[in-house]
Amino acid sequence: MASLLKKPLRNELISYRVFLLLLLLVIILAPVSLTLASTSSITFPFDDTNGKAKVAKERKQSEALLKWKTSLHIKSQSLLSSWIGSTPCNWVGISCDNSESIVHLNLSTYGLKGTLHNLSFRSFPNLLTLDLSYNLLYGPIPQELGILSSLSELDLSSNNLTHAIPTSLGNLSNLRNLYLCENQLSGSIPQELGMLGSLSNLDLSSNNLTHSIPASFGNLTKLATLILHKNKFSGPIPFKMNNLTRLKILDLCYNQFTGHVPENVCIGRVLEKFTAIDNHFIGPIPQSLRNCTSLVRVRLQGNQLSGNIGESFGVYPHLVYMELSYNNFYGVLSTNWGKCQNLTSLRISNNDISGKISPEFGKAILLHVLDISSNRLDGEIPEELGRLAFLVDLNLHNNKISGNIPSDFGMLSNLEQLNLAENNLSGLIPELGHCRKLWYLNLSNNQLSEHIPFQFGNLQVLDLSQNFLMEEIPQQLGDLQALVSLNLSHNSLFGFVPSTFDRMLSLTYVDLSYNRLEGPLPNTKAFREAPNEAFRNNKGLCGNATGLEACPITISNYPHVNRGNKIVKIILLLLGIIILIFVIVGVTSILCRRKKKARNKPKEAHHQNFFTVWSYDGKMLYENIIEATENFDEKHCIGVGGYGIVYKAELLAAGHVVAVKKMHPLSNESMANPKAFTSEIGALTEIRHRDIVKLHGFCSHPRCLLLVYEFLEGGSLERILSSDEQAKDFDWVKRVNVVKGVASALSYMHHDISYPIIHRDISSKNVLLDSEYEAHISDFGTARILNSDSSYWTSFAGTFGYTAPELAYTLEVNEKSDIYSFRVVALEVIMGRHPGDLISLLSLSFASSSTSVPHNVLLKEVLDQRLAHPTNKVANEVVLVAKLALSCLHASPQYRPTMQQVSQKLTTRKYTSPNPLDMVTLGDLNAPCNST
Ligand SMILES: *[C@@H]1O[C@H](CO)[C@@H](O)[C@H](O)[C@H]1NC(C)=O
Ligand SMILES: *[C@@H]1O[C@H](CO)[C@@H](O)[C@H](O)[C@H]1NC(C)=O
Ligand SMILES: *[C@@H]1O[C@H](CO)[C@@H](O)[C@H](O)[C@H]1NC(C)=O
Ligand SMILES: *[C@@H]1O[C@H](CO)[C@@H](O)[C@H](O)[C@H]1NC(C)=O
Ligand SMILES: *[C@@H]1O[C@H](CO)[C@@H](O)[C@H](O)[C@H]1NC(C)=O
Repeated sequence: MASLLKKPLRNELISYRVFLLLLLLVIILAPVSLTLASTSSITFPFDDTNGKAKVAKERKQSEALLKWKTSLHIKSQSLLSSWIGSTPCNWVGISCDNSESIVHLNLSTYGLKGTLHNLSFRSFPNLLTLDLSYNLLYGPIPQELGILSSLSELDLSSNNLTHAIPTSLGNLSNLRNLYLCENQLSGSIPQELGMLGSLSNLDLSSNNLTHSIPASFGNLTKLATLILHKNKFSGPIPFKMNNLTRLKILDLCYNQFTGHVPENVCIGRVLEKFTAIDNHFIGPIPQSLRNCTSLVRVRLQGNQLSGNIGESFGVYPHLVYMELSYNNFYGVLSTNWGKCQNLTSLRISNNDISGKISPEFGKAILLHVLDISSNRLDGEIPEELGRLAFLVDLNLHNNKISGNIPSDFGMLSNLEQLNLAENNLSGLIPELGHCRKLWYLNLSNNQLSEHIPFQFGNLQVLDLSQNFLMEEIPQQLGDLQALVSLNLSHNSLFGFVPSTFDRMLSLTYVDLSYNRLEGPLPNTKAFREAPNEAFRNNKGLCGNATGLEACPITISNYPHVNRGNKIVKIILLLLGIIILIFVIVGVTSILCRRKKKARNKPKEAHHQNFFTVWSYDGKMLYENIIEATENFDEKHCIGVGGYGIVYKAELLAAGHVVAVKKMHPLSNESMANPKAFTSEIGALTEIRHRDIVKLHGFCSHPRCLLLVYEFLEGGSLERILSSDEQAKDFDWVKRVNVVKGVASALSYMHHDISYPIIHRDISSKNVLLDSEYEAHISDFGTARILNSDSSYWTSFAGTFGYTAPELAYTLEVNEKSDIYSFRVVALEVIMGRHPGDLISLLSLSFASSSTSVPHNVLLKEVLDQRLAHPTNKVANEVVLVAKLALSCLHASPQYRPTMQQVSQKLTTRKYTSPNPLDMVTLGDLNAPCNST
């Protein structure tokens, strides 16, 4: 019974519960469904038309982009990982207007590889900007691009695009900027481009374009910049330029243009930069250029321009740079140059100029470079030139200049190169001790007399040959510790070669022939290995050199050092050693004590205030690092860098492996302004470049500074090159890639970020490789962080063997030091070992135009012999790397190419070596500069 009664009761209970539950659900869901109902009922009518159209548009746009994405090479597709789904307005590189139409497509420097064939341009009718520059796109530019009628900027520069420029581009009537430079486009420029009525900037440089410029360009009335350099254009300029009244920049360099310089090139009187290096222009400078007071830079060297130079140019108040070398100008230099108050560089060498150098030149007070060599100038050097305080490079060689060298030259503290060779100069050589930056001095082939001065700058090249110098060689010459090449031949010098010459450790070339010298030669490498001719026709030189008799034993090796002196020297030496030992012991014990202290107090350290700029979602903490490295135990040490010790830390909590660099503590000074310090590092953590080791963040407190970097498993370039086994795997393609990577990183840091960063210590130790042999430069910006800490700074001076000799002595820090180090690293990569003095030797052999040994060495002989010689395409690239490392060495550093130019050459241009690799000599590679 009970069970009979119970059952219905239970059922009732269950249904009651179900009811309650349902009620609850209704109460909860009612408002939701209500709002749902209400919103949908209000917006429905609008959504239907607008929304559907929008969705359709977005779908069309996204489909077009995704289709293109899938047509790209696999690695490029992964670079566009945000390109998924159907809302392209949020994708990387895309911007839309209010109606979700794509208006900007900017994927510059993504390294994308593929063609434009599959990009459906008609899907983006409102596009204003299309920037795909600095990628690896190849194939033709599609005709369909001409459909983008709103387009205002088209930038496809620095890719590998081929074929002709499509005629349809003439339809882009709103186009203001068109950049197609640094590709391999061919054919002629379509005349349709003359229809681009809005065009303001046009750059077609560095392609294979041929034929003449179309006459229709005369209609480009808004054109401000026209850059056509490095193509194969020929013929005369076919229009008068009457309508190009806004032209500011005209660059025609390195083509085969003929005929006259256009008569109205400066008709609008706004022309600032006009360059036409290495063409076949003939005839005089046109009147409009003569009156063109807006000019800032003019480079017309390497043409056949003629006319009286004295009447061809006016006064240009803004002019900074004028280069007219290798033309046929004649006549006397006008005094107008002195009135160009902003002129810093004037080069008119290798023309047919005569007459005197006017004292008016002394009024061009900003003049840095004056090169009027290889002309027919006579008269004396005006004293006034000695007052040009900024003068860096003065070249008057190969003229008929007579008289004395003005003694004021000795006050030119910025002078780096002085070449007065092959003239009729006479009298005394002035003391040049105040010219501290002077590294190249050539006074050969004159009639200079009396003695060699006691003081020179920090010379690397000294050529006083073919003069009437007499007396003994001064002892002080031995102080020239950087001297690499010394030529005193064909004079009347007598006496002994000073013993101080032993100190000239850099000396490599020496020529003392045709003098009246006697006695022993210094026993250094330069003297031992010099050829016979270097010492012939003297009175009685002896020593270890080839072809010389050994010195008789009675003559002491050091005629100027007596025995007493020797004993004093030995005592001093011993004293020095003892002091050194004390210092080393002291320093080590202090360091050890410090280390112990630090180890004992990790907790205390942690509790003191330290601040972090983790860009790593805040997970990393000082403790994690201490834990992971077991309080910086040696077994986690993976390297000792220029600034500190590097540990590998596997941060278990965060699941990351990082490299931690433990630096020396910073001084109170730099920590006095923690805000500036944090923002400095903050900026460094923002840097994102494929070839720069990522700095994740830092941790700092008074006792230590930690920098936390991305960890790279490949190790350093130095380590790979030093292991025969790894070096063999490191093939030519990989090596060229590494050089490209390093160049790209340096270019980025020097030129592409808002505040340029100089590395200061580029070496093969600082180039790390990942598992795919991609280069990553480490320690960027470290110099900058430490910059404020001067005591730390002075102890560091770059890595030996990677520092430019001409910069090693100046404390001035600029990107030139990085450029030099890059050249060393590039050579090291292809040679498989450090190039030693090769760079300085080559630069000097060029400067003194001697056919010395390294000049004639074949490139293939210095390449890393552990690999088979490169062939085909990569052979060309290896030659290009060598060329970039060795070219343009004779020029003063500020005229050598920047890292940006170097990187562009490496990444964007297909280089074809004029000679097969087997025939290229190092001398061939050391070509003159030819960059604009
Ligand atoms: C320049 O434009 C005018 C009309 O705007 C046209 O008649 C002329 O043919 C054009 N000149 C050239 C050389 O294309
Ligand atoms: C200059 O422009 C005018 C009108 O814009 C045009 O008629 C003329 O043909 C142009 N001159 C040259 C030389 O192209
Ligand atoms: C150039 O200047 C000279 C003298 O100042 C003047 O006589 C001449 O008309 C000017 N020429 C032009 C084309 O402006
Ligand atoms: C000369 O050069 C200085 C510095 O570059 C500049 O500020 C000045 O405006 C220039 N003067 C003229 C007349 O162009
Ligand atoms: C030294 O100068 C003389 C004369 O100028 C020249 O013939 C010789 O080749 C030079 N020596 C070297 C090593 O350059």
